[in-house]
Amino acid sequence: MSIDKDNSSSDINFTSSHLKISLDKSTFQIKRAQSLQNIEKFWTEQAKNLVWNKYWDKTLEWNPPFAKWFVGGLVNASINCLDKHINSEIKNKAAIIWEGENGENITLTYYQLYQKVNQFSNALKNLGIRKGDRVTIYLPMVPELPIAILACSRIGAIHNVIFSGFSSTALVDRINDAKSKIIITADGGFRRGNIIELKKIVDEAIINTPSIQNVIVLRRTGNHIEMRGKDVWWHEIIQNQSSYCEPELIESIHPLFILYTSGTTGKPKGVVHSTGGYLTHIYSTAKWVFDFNQQDIFFCTADIGWITGHSYIVYAPLMHGVTEILYEGTADYPHPDRYWSFIEKYGITILYTTPTALRMYMRYGNEIPNSFNLSTLRLLGTVGEPINPEVWMWYFTIIGKEKCPIVDTWWQTETGGIMISHCTGIDIMPMKPGSAMFPVPGVDLAVVNEEGNTLPQNQKGYLVIRKPWPGMLMTLWEDDGKYKNNYWKFQNYYYFTGDYAIIDDELYFWLLGRSDDVIKISGHRLGTIELESTFISHESVAEAAVTSKPDRIKGESIIAFLVLKKDFVESDQLRKEIIEHIRNNIGAIATPNEVYFVDRLPKTRSGKIMRRLLKSVVSGLTIGDTTTLEDGTSIKEIQKIYNDLNDIIKNK
Ligand code: WT7
Repeated sequence: MSIDKDNSSSDINFTSSHLKISLDKSTFQIKRAQSLQNIEKFWTEQAKNLVWNKYWDKTLEWNPPFAKWFVGGLVNASINCLDKHINSEIKNKAAIIWEGENGENITLTYYQLYQKVNQFSNALKNLGIRKGDRVTIYLPMVPELPIAILACSRIGAIHNVIFSGFSSTALVDRINDAKSKIIITADGGFRRGNIIELKKIVDEAIINTPSIQNVIVLRRTGNHIEMRGKDVWWHEIIQNQSSYCEPELIESIHPLFILYTSGTTGKPKGVVHSTGGYLTHIYSTAKWVFDFNQQDIFFCTADIGWITGHSYIVYAPLMHGVTEILYEGTADYPHPDRYWSFIEKYGITILYTTPTALRMYMRYGNEIPNSFNLSTLRLLGTVGEPINPEVWMWYFTIIGKEKCPIVDTWWQTETGGIMISHCTGIDIMPMKPGSAMFPVPGVDLAVVNEEGNTLPQNQKGYLVIRKPWPGMLMTLWEDDGKYKNNYWKFQNYYYFTGDYAIIDDELYFWLLGRSDDVIKISGHRLGTIELESTFISHESVAEAAVTSKPDRIKGESIIAFLVLKKDFVESDQLRKEIIEHIRNNIGAIATPNEVYFVDRLPKTRSGKIMRRLLKSVVSGLTIGDTTTLEDGTSIKEIQKIYNDLNDIIKNK
């Protein structure tokens, strides 16, 4: 493998040890070009790799912007993840190897997982859960989390997983929007040696969630909790349940799950994914990107509370019958060596993680990863945010020892599965550190200007998706209007991703961050407007403006400017209180890094917050291109606002 260090784009070629690949004649580019000639035909072929109870009548029904894939087809996700394997040679193979934060571990074979899922499906049915009902899941990263998800999918209940780091207010919003009948939680979860009292958070939440009929509680920590009227223990409700539950026949277009994500509006959006299209997309992309084989030990470090965990921990790896590692804790607790030690301990072959985790590990130096045997690795992946070329190089050399291809995968909660990546299962292509490379087959991406017209190569613009794809969200839960407004503002029904991108001379895609009011903290998605509303909900805050600035580890960090109500005086104590308020109302991931008190917010004459100006000030950039968009406000005025804010930041 050669690295051309003099070349500014520093392509990394696998060509020295492989045959020479000409970019446009590679198997990959040919396959991609063919797929785009007829996407319906292409995806029909892919869908046939799944187990269907009944084939579909129509591959795609496209009533823009609503897509229905494999209409008339019947397909069950749990059959594809479990039943399919139990009459095969992998019946007794490890499906999940779970490692707890305190070093405990549990291995579940495909057959054992199958039995547990069946049992829990029966328990859910016994509590009155039926096809179409919503089930909220609020669990730490323990095997019962995928078990609960798969049980829902078996009986056709729509799961709604909420990341266990979210607060009770976040739970209330999501449960009420989805009108869940049941919430599944635990007596607690371990996080950095502490117990997070999940049950208490749920108790607080369900006072305000009338739809909840029962709370299922998993015993995890042994922590003392109070059991109330609606509460039932997980271990009690599965007692005496048969280890077989007849799977429901599920229409391909029946929702498999709702997953809430932050956007440009105040409230999180309930992204709805279908069953047949979604499963087809993630099954196919897992094959192309990770090139799964039966010897693989796959470790995706995401939390199942996010889309990465749904698609590439729960569903795709199990559909492919690989063995995967599930880890309860964080990357650096109790030591900053967790991922490397697991690679050695379990012989992991594929690591799929975030740039934030890699930046954190890089800071501790090379000695730690060098002290572990990482030779089993064959492929490295990243997701969630752009990866800096230096971090990419570190991953490639120190972790992959220059022998593992890297897959930098770009996608979103809404896309269901990977959309841009190096497809190592199709072709190993020359890599460019920092580029996510090419759209996967069967998806059509482009970069356009404000008017929605396709831009020439090498010009920065908005990344859009020009044709429907099977993993595409169906809508936002019970809000078709918001779905239309959020994603379909461009002509010709081009899906608006919210990202900036460039396509280079050789058709490589480079992702350049968000173009909207969404920020990515450690790869997690938060909306500035959602944050501002939460600030304002504190009794002392009259107005709030939130922006972000680059952060060496987390990618971005949150900066807030607040105007206090008349009767409140700024103080460090008040600042702490407000930060605590954010943590309690969203979760620890939303903790602001800096909070400034100001007399008034930087606004244009028409009253809009000058977001670009804020970004320039906090990032130490010049006023430069912020001037163009501020309607009617003079450069002088803007300069003054900029200087005032700059003083406040400097004098803090
Ligand atoms: C946003 C989606 C995809 C699952 C996890 C995040 C950013 C995601 C990359 C990447 C550059 C990336 C984009 C995207 N993003 N992957 N490889 N390179 N940026 O899902 O929380 O829905 O966030 O994450 O900005 O729009 P999400």
